[in-house]
Amino acid sequence: MIKLALVGYGKMGRMIESLLKPGEFELVGTFDISNPPRTHLENIPDVAIEFTNPASVLDNIEFLASKGINIVCGTTGWYDKIDAVKEIVFKYKTGFVYASNFSVGVNLYFQIVKEAAVLLNKFNQYDAGIEETHHTQKLDKPSGTAIRIADYVLGSLGKKKSITNDNPNPSESELNIISKRITNVVGNHKLVFESDSDSIIIEHNAKSRRGFAEGAILAAKFINGKRGFFKFEDIFNNLI
Ligand SMILES: NC(=O)c1ccc[n+]([C@@H]2O[C@H](COP(=O)([O-])OP(=O)(O)OC[C@H]3O[C@@H](n4cnc5c(N)ncnc54)[C@H](O)[C@@H]3O)[C@@H](O)[C@H]2O)c1
Repeated sequence: MIKLALVGYGKMGRMIESLLKPGEFELVGTFDISNPPRTHLENIPDVAIEFTNPASVLDNIEFLASKGINIVCGTTGWYDKIDAVKEIVFKYKTGFVYASNFSVGVNLYFQIVKEAAVLLNKFNQYDAGIEETHHTQKLDKPSGTAIRIADYVLGSLGKKKSITNDNPNPSESELNIISKRITNVVGNHKLVFESDSDSIIIEHNAKSRRGFAEGAILAAKFINGKRGFFKFEDIFNNLI
């Protein structure tokens, strides 16, 4: 049985707790802003699932790794610090898996997007753009998932060279991500290919947080007992 801690007991932490199967996990601690792990950890878990916020995540990672705890990190908005996080994980010889989006459906969507960009690269008449919509409490912009979609497009669509956000007048080489914040939208992403004749829209819409939580639980089982730094997308095909 995997000893598990939930770091961040908000919407995601609670959803994950509700999906834990008895016999697979033993929940040994739930931590939030009023009882963060750095000051309240007593029972050392095998794995911690971290869903907090960009201001807290780095300190939590450093502390949990220093205790030899493997981490599933769902918090977004810290990827400019990825090299520092990698260093921490290697320094303490722990295991770490992260994703901007743990949903199984979104990880399938990433593969569809990748194929679409390869195909559309052969048809110069199409311009490309991304639209992401989330609830108004979301702190980072554009979403980590939109950036990941953009990376796939940039990797295959020759005419797009860089990402721009909410740009009313992007140049031809810029891939613009439009970010919208609307109450109660869990997460919606659209990759739009637009020509003078038509539009091709590839869309993923999350109905609830359940899909993210299911993926984070899959990742916790994967990382238990392992060392190393993993991106969920890269291991996804081995998990399904
Ligand atoms: N990767 C994914 O699949 C995915 C999916 C959904 C949300 N997210 C991201 O996960 C994060 C959390 O999302 P949420 O919807 O649960 O947010 P939330 O605001 O409902 O929950 C975050 C919780 O973290 C707590 N917290 C803050 N600082 C803390 C600290 N130092 N130690 C412990 N807890 C602390 C807050 O009090 C809050 O309860 C956000 O960054 C969000 O963008 C990622």
